[in-house]
Amino acid sequence: MEVMNMKVLAFNASPLMENGNTAIMLEPFLKGMKEEGCDIELFYTSKLQVKPCLGDRACWTKTPGKCVQDDDVKMLIPKIQQADFIVFATPVYFDGMPGALKNLIDRLLPVIEPYFVLQAKHCRHPPRQPHKSSRVALVANCGFWEKDNFDPLIIHMKAICKNTSWEYTGALLRPHAEALSYMVRKGIPVQDVLDAAENLGRELVKTGRMSKKNLKIVNRELVSLETYVEMTNKGFKQTLDRLTKTENPP
Ligand SMILES: Cc1cc2nc3c(=O)[nH]c(=O)nc-3n(C[C@H](O)[C@H](O)[C@H](O)COP(=O)(O)O)c2cc1C
Repeated sequence: MEVMNMKVLAFNASPLMENGNTAIMLEPFLKGMKEEGCDIELFYTSKLQVKPCLGDRACWTKTPGKCVQDDDVKMLIPKIQQADFIVFATPVYFDGMPGALKNLIDRLLPVIEPYFVLQAKHCRHPPRQPHKSSRVALVANCGFWEKDNFDPLIIHMKAICKNTSWEYTGALLRPHAEALSYMVRKGIPVQDVLDAAENLGRELVKTGRMSKKNLKIVNRELVSLETYVEMTNKGFKQTLDRLTKTENPP
């Protein structure tokens, strides 16, 4: 009997795509999942054509299970319904996810039924068939130093999972991510962080869970708050000075 590999559907929501900080964390995580035998499909939301939801609920009424808009969502919905794991990798933009990723999630209305059911005394829509109860992992990074900058995004992602009957498995969080990319560029040791991301990918496939130990390594302090503020401000000042000189030569 042929054993099917588990399917991982990953979205990188950074407009900087493979050159962004999001990719630095996502790459080892997906590598870990791949090495455990998963088939990985990675999409960059910036390359996808995903129009905003029209809000007319035609996907519940006139064309049940199908959106009337003709764009990449058509191709993505069956993949989303068949995925064993969905990985949402994203930078924090104004305390949440970038619009392109939110647009994609809004367009998932056809994967759920219009009817209400009561789940833990809450109104919810049951999933439309076929629909795997995919496991979701969040891979997020942000520019501010503190971990609590992820709180609104985590609450939102957990709520989305409840709404779509996905299982939220946890989040790889990388605060002061600009320090991570700086350290990677300069060859300053951060291999433990990247290795932990890879191990989390392995753990998720093998056990369906991610260990607290590795999640903690992934978001460990890289530089002190004071140093980070200083280095960020110095970097911006240098960039602005350079640009001012280029635009206004003596
Ligand atoms: C439009 C915009 C909004 C942002 N908002 C926040 C924010 O609210 N909190 C935060 O900590 N970082 C914020 N950032 C910083 C990014 O989250 C951070 O630089 C991240 O590492 C970018 O990931 P990327 O290089 O993969 O695009 C923002 C960046 C941009 C461009």
